[in-house]
Amino acid sequence: MGLNSEGAEVVLRRLARVRLEIPAGLNLVKTADPRITGGDALQDYLGCFRRMHRCGDFITLNLSCPNTAEGKTFEEPTVLHALLRELRGVRSELETESGNKPVLLKISPDLDSTALHAILDLAAEYDISGLVVANTTGRREKLLTSREVLDRFGFGGLSGYRLGPLVREMLGRIQEHSGKRFTLIACGGIGCDPEKSPAEETWEYLKLGATLVQLHTGLIYRGPGIARAIQTGLLRILKEKGYSSLMGYIALRNRN
Ligand SMILES: Cc1cc2nc3c(=O)[nH]c(=O)nc-3n(C[C@H](O)[C@H](O)[C@H](O)COP(=O)(O)O)c2cc1C
Repeated sequence: MGLNSEGAEVVLRRLARVRLEIPAGLNLVKTADPRITGGDALQDYLGCFRRMHRCGDFITLNLSCPNTAEGKTFEEPTVLHALLRELRGVRSELETESGNKPVLLKISPDLDSTALHAILDLAAEYDISGLVVANTTGRREKLLTSREVLDRFGFGGLSGYRLGPLVREMLGRIQEHSGKRFTLIACGGIGCDPEKSPAEETWEYLKLGATLVQLHTGLIYRGPGIARAIQTGLLRILKEKGYSSLMGYIALRNRN
């Protein structure tokens, strides 16, 4: 918590040493360094994108981190516009060197419709391939923990089970506005519902328009084996429903 990454240079060196057999998604966020703000933060973000570009198969710009010194500035439409405009130039510079990598935006589940629509319109204008839905929420509703204890925790994002309904709703709102324009990665609560298997939770997100899923909190409850559990469970569900493969299901779903 709190963007405790060792930073782009260290991560870059680490990634250069590994050979992955699966696609690698990079997730970049504006620096948490309180001395780097405004236009400098934008240039710092672009610099990080330039350095890391060759290592990832797709790159997510995490616009919605609640832990940066200035708050969530890149979700603010004028700031996002400036970022995406500059990024367009950086992407075309890098294209010859390391290809045109898909870029996605990671958004908050707390966006109101005006903010969401502004982000979606900018994303469509600036060749953004998809959205990661979503980051943690600032809401504190329907929790078992008392208000008093919550107040002691103070500011921060809530992850896990309670995100499920917010993410499901957000997937609907995005498609209502943008149709099937974006690849959607659903993220929120997978592996956190004791009544359901993580494969069932994943299947629900796929039915609502997601093509991929991500998870974080579920690792605490289910451990790293959760990835295999999702994979085998999902294959079983697909077979039961009469689909030969996940890609087959997605292609069919997207046609309808
Ligand atoms: C302790 C913690 C640290 C996180 N750090 C990041 C981060 O650095 N970048 C990011 O994009 N999301 C971060 N997130 C958000 C998660 O990636 C994810 O979007 C969110 O927790 C919802 O998924 P989940 O319910 O499966 O955890 C963090 C979440 C937690 C709980």
